[in-house]
Amino acid sequence: MRVLIHPTEREASVWVARHIAARINSCLKQGDGPFVLGLPTGTTPLGVYRELIRLYEQGKVSFANVVTFNMDEYVGLPADHPQSYHYFMWENFFRHVDVRPENVNILNGMAKDIALECGEYEEKIAEADGIDLFLGGVGSDGHIAFNEPFSSLASRTRMKTLTDETIVANSRLFNDISEVPRTALTVGVGTILDADEVIILATGFNKARALHHAIEGSYNHQWTVSALQTHRNGMIVCDEDAANELQVSTYRYFKNLEKDHMAPAEL
Ligand code: GLP
Repeated sequence: MRVLIHPTEREASVWVARHIAARINSCLKQGDGPFVLGLPTGTTPLGVYRELIRLYEQGKVSFANVVTFNMDEYVGLPADHPQSYHYFMWENFFRHVDVRPENVNILNGMAKDIALECGEYEEKIAEADGIDLFLGGVGSDGHIAFNEPFSSLASRTRMKTLTDETIVANSRLFNDISEVPRTALTVGVGTILDADEVIILATGFNKARALHHAIEGSYNHQWTVSALQTHRNGMIVCDEDAANELQVSTYRYFKNLEKDHMAPAEL
């Protein structure tokens, strides 16, 4: 696993955005398109989306030949609900770039047949030849997508019950905690690990404990982010605050190892 510790949240976000843009460009240059991109919601990726929009406006990247799969969606919120992940993605990213609406895939939390919806999502990913790059955030309890503590590390797309910690954390975006859905549809840990490349972006002190477990802890279903340890091409990109709980030796090891790779990709 690679760990890139950037001085600030902004530098971490710019690095990730430019890495994504460079991967899209190189895939399309080689005629291997479309590029299949897995995407998260949350506060963490907002800086990445802002930078990708800027790069698109500067003509440095296009999403016309990109297929996207989002990680998760609340159960019971329609796509036009301001707290739905559909709404989030269109507001914060898709409507600002040239992605084709038919290439955007987000789980339908209003589906009548949840098992069918989840099964078809996995099929669609397979039909797209799998995900080239999955970007994710991490919850303070170490969850990725909505794979809460003790989720199977081999899990596939399904419905999950949210923990109190997640409900409390996500309630900041709702008027009242009672409005936060108790369940969500989410890709599984196994679905994420099937991607060719996985990047987990983590910023701020409240992610420090999760990163300690992800990087220095054991491969363990209590901290589902630790499953990244088994990925052949997994990377954690964080800021100094999120690296706060790492041992000094671990911190120094990665700072030294990655010192020549901290500059954002040239486009
Ligand atoms: C939610 C999402 C996750 C996200 C996490 C952290 O639970 N399902 O995909 O990583 O929140 O969100 P934030 O980036 O706002 O801290």
